[in-house]
Amino acid sequence: MSDILKITDLHVAVEGKAILRGVNLTIRRGETHALMGPNGSGKSTLGNAVMGHPGYEVTGGKMELSGADVLAMDATERSRAGIFMAFQRPMAIPGVKMAEFLRHATTNVRNPDRKEGEELIPMRQFRKELMEKMEQLRMDPEFARRYVNDGFSGGEMKRAEILQMAMLRPSFAILDETDSGLDVDAVKLASQSIAQIGREAGGGKEMGILIITHHDKLLDHNRPDFTHVMLGGKIVETGGVELAHELYTEGYDRIRSAYPDAAAAEQEMAEEVAAS
Ligand SMILES: Nc1ncnc2c1ncn2[C@@H]1O[C@H](COP(=O)(O)OP(=O)(O)OP(=O)(O)O)[C@@H](O)[C@H]1O
Ligand SMILES: [Mg+2]
Repeated sequence: MSDILKITDLHVAVEGKAILRGVNLTIRRGETHALMGPNGSGKSTLGNAVMGHPGYEVTGGKMELSGADVLAMDATERSRAGIFMAFQRPMAIPGVKMAEFLRHATTNVRNPDRKEGEELIPMRQFRKELMEKMEQLRMDPEFARRYVNDGFSGGEMKRAEILQMAMLRPSFAILDETDSGLDVDAVKLASQSIAQIGREAGGGKEMGILIITHHDKLLDHNRPDFTHVMLGGKIVETGGVELAHELYTEGYDRIRSAYPDAAAAEQEMAEEVAAS
């Protein structure tokens, strides 16, 4: 099992435009990290680059999973190696039922050496586990029969992402605004569920979690060991849980004045978006 995810001086470009400009981040299993930062600062780009999204070109730096070169792996290999991401805007897959999708994904991640066409997790065992997890997340069992994210409400999509994490039991999870669109009760339930899933991760060890959020409610039951602030494609400051509360209540004025180079990069990125 992989115990440490280490990102060093990561540079990422999208459509030829520089977005991440030297990100350093180390996450160990058992640690919870919060990642905050203004809109467009590069938080989702970091998640997508870690997951191996082909549209995000790594132009410099390193990414290692307990010493193994993550950049040499494609997204499937990264998933099998124990990395997971809950997307900010999950895609719908009409025609593919949730249960079918989860059974395949769960089998492939739990048996990384499985070849296409080999046996899946036995149906009875899978269904039992799926129903338990859905009950825990207070999801209607009917969801298992619906097409992945097709016509799901915003909150239902986010719950479906958490359900996926619960089934896959990754070593490292990136949760990209998993709280967005959830009502007050649902955020509380999500926060509790994420903490519980984190404790039950694979290999008898806790998960390493990166929570990308604009709020601090999801952190109630997932108290961050570290809070990072991204601005202009760089992590400019790292603190504890108090930093998350400060940013949520006070905003980013102090950060922009304290890190003028990153604030200038933010300005530059915004102008590029406006021009394109
Ligand atoms: N697939 C893409 N195509 C074009 N531009 C992109 C793409 N992904 C990211 N960008 C650009 O990169 C910059 C950073 O975007 P990113 O989504 O990483 O920000 P973020 O910090 O997650 O913001 P938010 O808080 O709004 O989710 C933005 O200017 C965005 O327009
Ligand atoms: Mg984002």
